[in-house]
Amino acid sequence: MAERLDKYISVSFSISRKDARNEIKKGSVTIDNTVIKDAAFKVPQKAEVTLGGKKAEYKKYIYVMLNKPQGILSASTDKQRETVVDLVYRTHKRSGLFPVGRLDKDTTGFLIVTDDGDFGHKVMSPKNMVEKEYFVKVDKPITNEDIKVLESGVTLADKTKCRPAKVKHLDNTEEYLSIVITEGKYHEIKRMLGVVGAGVVSLHRHRIAGVVLDEKLKEGEFRELTDDELMDLANSLK
Ligand code: URA
Repeated sequence: MAERLDKYISVSFSISRKDARNEIKKGSVTIDNTVIKDAAFKVPQKAEVTLGGKKAEYKKYIYVMLNKPQGILSASTDKQRETVVDLVYRTHKRSGLFPVGRLDKDTTGFLIVTDDGDFGHKVMSPKNMVEKEYFVKVDKPITNEDIKVLESGVTLADKTKCRPAKVKHLDNTEEYLSIVITEGKYHEIKRMLGVVGAGVVSLHRHRIAGVVLDEKLKEGEFRELTDDELMDLANSLK
């Protein structure tokens, strides 16, 4: 579908919609070498658009891999607190950005932020069985018996049934685990571990489907997902 010129400019140059409109009004924007001053103009497919002589590289949607820091909310907006979308919006001025699923405020690691609703909902949908792997530090040793319980699919205190998880010890200790789940119930990992009497000391999401969090990303840093990573995620959808 053809996009309005102000949105096209805002998204391509990561400037606000208001600044895009001002630039258009000033005559800084051309489409196929003709100055266009109408912000509502529909940009034809394959048109060459420039701002101040610089060619626009328009992408309909953006897909971001974020290493979520502790203390930041997995939400689009919040009146008081900083959200993951606030972080991404600093460099990608797009309306409609949202986190694909939620990590608790104190959870770190891999979160996708996008403005592609269809993609986001598919990755989140429990129907699609997308694997999410977490690294978890716990406050008591998790025995092989506990692992069997978690792997058989626990029933939480409120009678919610969890799907069987894949659980293993990491680093040869019983207090550090990899847990793979295929759904995203509220506080799922924390509540599952509660069933075997363990509290979570730290929780970090390491992987979604076949895509591992880029180790070069420090907490709070993000980059766009590569085409290969997007392909892997798309292929993981049943
Ligand atoms: N499970 C939790 O308990 N918290 C998260 O943030 C993610 C999974």
